[in-house]
Amino acid sequence: MAAVRKPVIAGNWKMHMGPVATGEFFAAFARAYQPDAGRTIIFFPPAISVTAAREALRARGDIAIGVQNTYWQPKGAFTGEVSAPMAREAGATYVLAGHSERRHVFGETDQDVARKARAAFDAGLTAVVCVGETLDERRAGRVDEVILRQLDAVLEALTPEQAADVLVAYEPVWAIGTGVNATPEDAAAAHGTLRRRLAERLGGARAGLVPILYGGSVKPDNAGTLLAATDVDGLLVGGASLDPAGFALIAASGA
Ligand code: 13P
Repeated sequence: MAAVRKPVIAGNWKMHMGPVATGEFFAAFARAYQPDAGRTIIFFPPAISVTAAREALRARGDIAIGVQNTYWQPKGAFTGEVSAPMAREAGATYVLAGHSERRHVFGETDQDVARKARAAFDAGLTAVVCVGETLDERRAGRVDEVILRQLDAVLEALTPEQAADVLVAYEPVWAIGTGVNATPEDAAAAHGTLRRRLAERLGGARAGLVPILYGGSVKPDNAGTLLAATDVDGLLVGGASLDPAGFALIAASGA
């Protein structure tokens, strides 16, 4: 991995951890993980726990908070949705765009994801664009086609400056929550594909600065190996980010 890309270790809590559990988690995590200027640490709690997270992290400017999803309109009659400006106001600085569960459980299209990423940047948030193929798509030899289609849809919706600021997360659907992580070789191949497309779109120098995270069954015992793979600049961790001690190990892995 190029030294210019600081490792990004992120925890996606999905629909776990209300405000009370969030406060308890960060009390424990702050003891287990000391600030490291060489790493970017981001947590994605449920939107309703963002304020509690910011409160609990008042003394920890090294830990950023993001939301898992935002709608593309800034406000209006969209019951149940949260907008990017609202998330920003609550203290989030990142947002996941197109997580596989948004795509496959809630039916989000590439176009929806692109609109959401655009609205996030317009509101001053940084979008972490999630891409990844299903097992059927992998078996059919369609990995590159699928992840490039997902990436392109977002890049085309952004200004060049916004596109240069994205983070990308490669999360193969078959590896999420299954205990079967991609091999470092599979991750490196997909990340290389994404990096080449970023270079075509942004130019090599800018593309070289975009962090590409791997996600899917990352645990304390495989984090270091995955992080060491070529073009893997960080990790997006689901289940294992719910345990403060375990996630502290992941956050420090390979350092
Ligand atoms: P798991 O780490 O639980 O497989 O989840 C990965 C994920 O979806 C992170 O966004």
